[in-house]
This record gives sequence, C-alpha cells and structure tokens, in this order.
Amino acid sequence: MNNREVIWGEMDRLTKAGLSQLGYTELELERAAELTYQINQRKSKEDVVIPAHVYQRAEILYGVADFVGDSLKLSRLCAESPAKKIVFCGVRFMAETAKILSPDKEVFLPALEAGCSLADSITREEICKLKSEYPGVPVVSYINTTAEVKAESDVIVTSANASKILQALFQKHDRIIFLPDEWMGRNLARELNKKVGEELIIHNGKCIVHEGFDPGAVEHYRRQYPGVKILAHTECSPALVAAVDFAGGTGDMLKYIKNTSASSYMLVTECGLGDMARAEFPDRHFIPMCRLCPYMKATDLAHVLKTLETPSSEQRIELPPELIRAARRPLDRMFELST
Ligand code: 13P
Ligand code: SF4
Repeated sequence: MNNREVIWGEMDRLTKAGLSQLGYTELELERAAELTYQINQRKSKEDVVIPAHVYQRAEILYGVADFVGDSLKLSRLCAESPAKKIVFCGVRFMAETAKILSPDKEVFLPALEAGCSLADSITREEICKLKSEYPGVPVVSYINTTAEVKAESDVIVTSANASKILQALFQKHDRIIFLPDEWMGRNLARELNKKVGEELIIHNGKCIVHEGFDPGAVEHYRRQYPGVKILAHTECSPALVAAVDFAGGTGDMLKYIKNTSASSYMLVTECGLGDMARAEFPDRHFIPMCRLCPYMKATDLAHVLKTLETPSSEQRIELPPELIRAARRPLDRMFELST
C-alpha cells in the first residue's frame, strides 16, 4: 500500500467512526487522517493511553482516544489503566487528577493553554480563609479545582455524584462548604432544599461557557420546536436549570438521550457534547444551542502528536509528592461515597 492509500484508509476509518455525521469536508478529513494515522502508529509502539473528555474535538474523540467520558469516568479509567504514560486530552485539572491518582505514571497535557475558569476562580489562600471562617465545617470541592485546592478539601465531587455525596454528608452535618462553582452550588441547594449561606456555604466561581446561556431562550425554543427535550449542564444558572427538562453532568445527559425517544433534543452546554451526541445517535435530531470552551478546544491533533514525539517539560504534569498525598485523600473519599 502506498502512502495515499494508507491515508484514504484512515479517512474511511474516521468517517465510519462518527465524523461523517459532523460535516467534515474532504480536506479537513484528509488533514485529520494524516495526523491520526501518525499518532496511532506512534501509540502502537509505546505503553501510552489517551483519555479524552467529551468536549474535545471530534477528530480526537473518534480518531485517537482510547477512552472518552465525563470527569468521573475519566478519573476512574486513568487510575485503572495499566499504561505507564497518559496523554490527557482535556484540561489541566483533569490531567492533575490523573497524576494524583497514578503518581507513578508519566502524565502529559498536550496544550498548555488548557485551563478552566472554575479552577482559576479559587486559590489555596481563599479556601484556607473560608475554612478559618467556618471552623469544622466540611469542605466539598468540585473536581474542577487545582491540586492545591483539592489538598485543602475534605471530599471531591463531580457533576455526576455531587448530589448523592452532599445528601450523604448532610446526614451527619448541618452545614457544608461547596466550592468553587456558584451556579452548581445554588442548583444543589435547591435540589436538596438547603439554604444558601446558612446550610450550604458557596463560593462565587463561574464557568465561562455555562454562565453565558440565556434562560429566556428556553421558552422561545420550546415554542419553535414542539416536543423538544432541553437538557442543560448543572454549571448553568438556576433560572436556566429550572426551565429545562433535565439537568446533569455530561455523562447523565448522554444517558438521558439514550433512554428517551423525543422528536428532538437541545443540549445547553459546550458544543463538543452535541457533536458527540450526533455521532453516537445518528437517528436523533439535535438542535444547536451551545458554546465553545476555549480551554477544551485548545488541544488539537498536532499537539497530541508533538507530545508523543517530543514532549516539553511544560507539558509534563509534575506535582510534589506531599501535594499528591494530600490531594489524593479527598479523591479517595469521593470514590468511597459514590460507590
Ligand atoms: P463533566 O464532568 O460533567 O463532564 O463536566 C466537566 C466540565 O468541565 C463541565 O464544564
Ligand atoms: Fe472549565 Fe467551563 Fe471549560 Fe468545563 S466548560 S473546562 S468548567 S471553563
């Protein structure tokens, strides 16, 4: 087989894997195929695994990822994977979590700009200040936090288990601190019937993607598309969450689509989830109402190839052993409480 035939074969594989549903042009498919082919060749010679969050570009999800999922699924699978090296297609807090759970593995983050506005919204000093203002009150931190903030927390939660874990903790405590996502905190307080500022102390962090959705648009789309099921991430505002048919994390939203059969769906979240849903459920109809996360979309195939071939020291996740030990404790507590 000559080189052209190899690339045509790879284009065919990508098309069948799901990209045909997503409107890739022939040229885009060819460019992607040239890189996915090289990445997969390289991968086959190394003990490496590529996890990818569902908001990543579709050519990463369907071209090179070994597993795809939400924050909870990825953290579990990274810890279980026997591979010695992890090239994490997601954002920094996810790659740090992988390192905390697998300190002996080499973990790389391909794009240095892949941060997160929520993780940036609270520092170690701020969490320590909150702890001194509310002594003895347990601190529950969303997984979208830095390793330093995790290390000062009692329990970590993700969008998939926050409600269950908070419910369990409220059996023993009258008051809990939840950080850093204000909207998620308010949504949880409403769901669990807790008073914000009294029973649930929250921080003011926001996701720059989910804070931007307009709750007023929901009624407009309902009138325009009768029968549409509207799903939103719980990082959206309480007004928006109250107006939709289902609110949850990305994994829960995909489960909801799988288990229902509506005339159409609208996913109020980062656009990657809609792309994935279109590829996974080609017989369903999806109406777009999404925003791009600049952090999630910072990673492309060229970064992944470069990380495999000649990783820089900045791409390698390095955390001091004592920080890893301290940040591991609340993550283990999460796994205990969410099984
Ligand atoms: P999920 O765990 O629901 O995938 O959320 C991660 C995230 O960053 C949402 O913005
Ligand atoms: Fe962070 Fe929001 Fe991007 Fe998720 S979508 S990584 S919470 S900025």
